[in-house]
Amino acid sequence: MESLDEQCPYVPLHRPHGFEPPPELHRLARRHPVTRVRVPTGQEAWLVSGHVEVRAVLTDRRFQAPGAFTQAADYGIPVAFQRPGSPLAVDGREHSRLRNVLKAAFSSRKVTAMRPRIKAISEDLLDDMAHQKPPVDLHQYFSSPLPVTVVCEMLDVPVKDRSELIRLADSANVNSLGDQDAASRAWDNFCRFLLELVERRKREPSDDLISQIAAHHAADGFPAAETATLIATMIVAGHQTTAVQIEWGVLGLLQHPAQHDHLLAAPQLLPQAVEEIVRSFPIGALMAVPRFTTEDVVIAGTRIKARSLVLASVQEAGFDSSLFDEPQNFDIGRRNNPHLAFGYGPHYCTGAALARLEIEIALGTLFQRFPSLHIAVPLDDLQVNHANIAGGLVGLPVAW
Ligand code: HEM
Repeated sequence: MESLDEQCPYVPLHRPHGFEPPPELHRLARRHPVTRVRVPTGQEAWLVSGHVEVRAVLTDRRFQAPGAFTQAADYGIPVAFQRPGSPLAVDGREHSRLRNVLKAAFSSRKVTAMRPRIKAISEDLLDDMAHQKPPVDLHQYFSSPLPVTVVCEMLDVPVKDRSELIRLADSANVNSLGDQDAASRAWDNFCRFLLELVERRKREPSDDLISQIAAHHAADGFPAAETATLIATMIVAGHQTTAVQIEWGVLGLLQHPAQHDHLLAAPQLLPQAVEEIVRSFPIGALMAVPRFTTEDVVIAGTRIKARSLVLASVQEAGFDSSLFDEPQNFDIGRRNNPHLAFGYGPHYCTGAALARLEIEIALGTLFQRFPSLHIAVPLDDLQVNHANIAGGLVGLPVAW
């Protein structure tokens, strides 16, 4: 078994240079589908990168979500995977109860009905961007405010509270490279802020998602603090992930002008393009989803001891050459694309349909409105956001 001390799935592996998929991915996936790694906090873990093995980990009950494992904090596992009330932290019956509350809100019928509103938000943001003098930061004007506005409207967060809510969410959204104590305090502040909204909606319910979740939770006997944690998880899991994928999509397409032009001429290909973007430019560290073994387990011939951290890299599974033809190539025409970017099994992303729709509308509207859009700085000047769970870039200056 190789020791890859320098390698860590919690470190975003993306490099902006050339925006080709990071070579580390193939190096690891080719060597062995199960590799011993060291996380930045110093502990050892197992990185699972083969497509078959990742699916096995995510559906086998001997690999459990981190909430019940007190050592999770020592490994720098993001707070959202640790707190009671977060679906990312628990399994079994409690997980099903939490998930059922979200399922109705994210049903495909509800998400489809959001299309006109997401389009209108995108157009408003682009109107504002068009009035700025280029270069402008796409992250600031478009890719970040779009998912933030969508989730805040679902939750009916008053406009005056939105910037504070996102500031709190972002400070809690730290990976194992960031300050863990600060992330934990930020998470508590974020949940306190949401708890006030929850209590307010309990007194004055309306048609929004907070009121629905609060009513569901109250009927199920969940404490209000856990209601706040569920909402916090949804916000943290939903906004930066989507913003990052919009930005990678813009970069990926601008790096492949023939595919960009083809997409402009044939916008019906957008949904297929979105699948290729999430496969080949996956978001950062979150994509190695954490599980702990409840007993000794053998996977792909490797014995993993009980209570070990296993990182299922849904990111690297998308580069498994036994499933994907020429996985290192970005190809929006790829038809067979069974990537695992939104996870697999019981924890499969509840917001996947919404994320797909947001990315599709964002890219379609952006490129139609600004057909000559280009990156306004040399690619080497772009900075990767290393401490954020979703990874991504610190900013994306564009001009047109
Ligand atoms: C492109 C954007 C997104 C990506 C790549 C993504 C990816 C993922 C992945 C891989 C998981 C599984 C984690 C695990 O197995 O432990 C997950 C879970 C989750 N995601 Fe997403 N996500 C995205 C957008 C969203 C959005 C827009 C929302 C909601 C607004 C959302 C809400 C959630 C929630 C609540 C969970 C927890 C599900 C559970 O544990 O049962 N995500 N996401």
